[in-house]
Amino acid sequence: MCRPEHFDVTYAINPWMNTSDPVNRALALAQWDGLRAAYEAHGHRVEVIEPVAGLPDMVFAANGGLIIEDRALSARFANPERAQEGPAYHGWMCTQGFTAVSAARETNEGEGDFAIARDRILAGTGFRSARAAHDEVAEFFGLPVVSLDLVDPRFYHLDTALMVLDDTIAYYPGAFSGPSARLLARMYPDAVIATEEDANVLGLNGVCDGYHVFLTEKAADLAEQLRARGYDPVGIDLSELLKSGGSVKCCTLELHRITTAAGSGTD
Ligand code: ARG
Repeated sequence: MCRPEHFDVTYAINPWMNTSDPVNRALALAQWDGLRAAYEAHGHRVEVIEPVAGLPDMVFAANGGLIIEDRALSARFANPERAQEGPAYHGWMCTQGFTAVSAARETNEGEGDFAIARDRILAGTGFRSARAAHDEVAEFFGLPVVSLDLVDPRFYHLDTALMVLDDTIAYYPGAFSGPSARLLARMYPDAVIATEEDANVLGLNGVCDGYHVFLTEKAADLAEQLRARGYDPVGIDLSELLKSGGSVKCCTLELHRITTAAGSGTD
C-alpha cells in the first residue's frame, strides 16, 4: 500500500475525476489509515512503499504491477501523468527478494486490469492496459489469461467492475462488451451479479481473503449478497479516494499465491 501523502486530483484521466472538486487530504489519510488498520485487524500483513511527491495517484498501489508467487511485473501506464509510478513500483519490487522482476513492455496497469482467479488470470482491456499486455502477462507468469473487453468509461479498469471471490467472482455485466459478458456468464454461472447502483459506488473494487470481503460501505446490496454466500463483508469508507475513481482494491497490491483448491490465494 502507499499512504496518500501526496494525494490530489490535479488532472482528470477518468470520468470520476473533477479537478474543481477539492480533495480533503487529511480525510483521505485518515480513511486510508482505516483501511490499513482493517487489514491488520483481520490478520493481514501490510507492506508500504514510500509515496513520491508529484504522483498524486500513487496511492492506487494495485496499478503498480502484478505479483504472483516469486515473480513481479511492474506497470507501464497509459497516461503520461502516471508514467513515473512504474519505475517507483519497480524499484520497490527490486528490494523484496523476488526471483524475477521485470518492467512491462506493453501498456499494463497492473492489478487494475489483471485479476488472479485461482490458476488463471482475468484481464481487462479497452481503456488502459493493451491487449498485447495480456499475452505478455501470460508468458511472464506462465498462466492462462482470459481477455475481457471493457466498454463503459466509468469502469475503466477491470477491478472497477469485477472482484474475485474464491472459486467465483462478483461483477457488473454492463461494464463489459456483449461477448465478454457472455463469456463471464458461461465461465461463472454462480457469480454474484452486482447492481448498477453498487457498481456506481465502486462496490466491486474490493479485496476478498477467502472469507472477509473488504469493500466500500456504500455497496449495501452487494454486502447482503456476499453475506448470503457465507462471506463476511467489512465496510470501509474511502469517499475521498472515490473522487479519483478508486476504492479499496485500487489501494491494494496483493502478493498472490496460486491455489487450485479451497484456500486463500492472498497473504
Ligand atoms: N485516478 C486513478 C486513475 O485514473 C485511479 C486508479 C484506480 N485504480 C484502480 N486499480 N482502479 O488511474
